[in-house]
Amino acid sequence: MTEPVRVRRITGADWDTVVALEHDAYAPLGLSEGRAALQSRAAVSPGTCFVVDVGGRPAGYLLALPYPALTVPDLGRTGPAAAVPPGNLHLHDLVVAPALRRRGLARHLLRRLTGAARTRGDERISLVAVGGSDRFWSARGFAPHPDVVPSVGYGADAVYMSRPVPAPREVS
Ligand SMILES: CC(C)(COP(=O)(O)OP(=O)(O)OC[C@H]1O[C@@H](n2cnc3c(N)ncnc32)[C@H](O)[C@@H]1OP(=O)(O)O)[C@@H](O)C(=O)NCCC(=O)NCCS
Repeated sequence: MTEPVRVRRITGADWDTVVALEHDAYAPLGLSEGRAALQSRAAVSPGTCFVVDVGGRPAGYLLALPYPALTVPDLGRTGPAAAVPPGNLHLHDLVVAPALRRRGLARHLLRRLTGAARTRGDERISLVAVGGSDRFWSARGFAPHPDVVPSVGYGADAVYMSRPVPAPREVS
């Protein structure tokens, strides 16, 4: 990729793009949450939510927020969460624009998230893999927890997974 790639925090001007990327990725699976829910999740933890720019334009996003380990967030709840101590960061969502996939943009976003997790003092990063993405996450060091069962709202093939926050020199 010759155009410059930059990961940064989400601003108000990014939301039309974020909402469109989310809709295109998840509406076909019946899993799209829509603008209000996405914005409310980012509002909980702006320092752990990012976009990746390619050539100065947003090409993907990642939303993560503190959430207790081995607990699946309730998709119906979008209001402010009670204060959660450092320990586990939950990666709620990661989407890269279809035309720009397989160029390492998700990896850029995940590296930034790992750095934010370290700075916060988190020990683990969790997520719910949806739409058959569990193989993607396994290749990035996430392991399933078969005893933690996501609610039906995440889709039939949802898998709760987590990994330790890697040390600075480990591959993230
Ligand atoms: C998953 C996703 C974010 C990856 O973004 P990306 O920028 O293409 O990722 P990267 O370029 O960093 O890595 C791509 C690698 O992941 C692999 N990959 C992507 N999606 C995959 C999937 N569903 N299952 C297995 N592997 C997958 C690619 O084959 C590629 O492997 P390679 O490098 O060996 O060729 C992107 O495909 C996407 O937005 N998908 C739709 C939304 C989604 O499913 N998000 C995760 C749900 S929790």
